[in-house]
Amino acid sequence: MSFDFNGKVALVTGANRGIGEGFVKTLLEAGVSTIYAAARDVSNLDTLVSINPDVIKPVQLDVTRSEQIKALTQTIQTIDILVNNAGIINPAINSAHDAVDFARQEMDVNLFGPMQLTSVLLPALRQSAQGAIINVSSIAGISNFPSIGTYSITKAAMHSYTQGLRADLADSNISVLGVYPGPIDTRMAEGFEMDKPAPEQVAIKSFECLSNGKTDVFPDDFSTQMYATFLDQPQKLADVFASMG
Ligand SMILES: NC(=O)c1ccc[n+]([C@@H]2O[C@H](COP(=O)([O-])OP(=O)(O)OC[C@H]3O[C@@H](n4cnc5c(N)ncnc54)[C@H](OP(=O)(O)O)[C@@H]3O)[C@@H](O)[C@H]2O)c1
Repeated sequence: MSFDFNGKVALVTGANRGIGEGFVKTLLEAGVSTIYAAARDVSNLDTLVSINPDVIKPVQLDVTRSEQIKALTQTIQTIDILVNNAGIINPAINSAHDAVDFARQEMDVNLFGPMQLTSVLLPALRQSAQGAIINVSSIAGISNFPSIGTYSITKAAMHSYTQGLRADLADSNISVLGVYPGPIDTRMAEGFEMDKPAPEQVAIKSFECLSNGKTDVFPDDFSTQMYATFLDQPQKLADVFASMG
């Protein structure tokens, strides 16, 4: 099954930088006709929109603001591709005294926002002849990475949500992809001292998988190796992540 990007309409959350910006640029190159680039502060989208203002449309969206999500249906009546990319990370370990506070904040952005946005846009997505929902989780969602424990919990929740959504939509024209990157060269991964691919690679690999009918995307060498370790022996990956501090 190949995926035809030509003439499609897409929405990318957290589009103003990092992996989200990479998705917008890659969608543009793929021939999508309209890309709603969503950001909390639309003034942060000026440079991106200037690449092709006929295609890239700025949209204000804080994914934790329910009223902003609901209002989107007034702007967006047609959509084929939804990229749930926006995310935050807190440096909180699982056993921290205030771990719940950090986890709640991360859940709002990393899970509940994408869930509500997807539900609100689903009626329009169902009208697509060939649609896709791309949920950005993390390799830390496959196995808990203790130094970013609460973040890992939210990304595991995103993984579970993605699996369930895929089952719900199995009889539809919508493919549901889960994306599980390792460290990528963005602001979020500034503290990780290792080889980090450019953010566009996440979008490129995701779209390759979409076109090849694959639903789980491991877009870099680190996540690919770690997932192979997990498949071999799940506890081994947990031990590897624990040893990485
Ligand atoms: N970089 C990595 O190594 C890595 C690895 C695995 C998974 N990921 C995931 O990839 C996704 C993108 O991360 P990134 O690496 O590109 O990080 P980033 O450079 O920190 O970008 C995060 C984006 O999310 C937006 N955002 C944060 N809170 C938001 C909210 N409440 N509503 C709407 N947008 C919000 C940010 O907007 P503002 O500019 O307004 O803050 C920014 O555009 C995240 O889901 C992240 O968890 C990243």
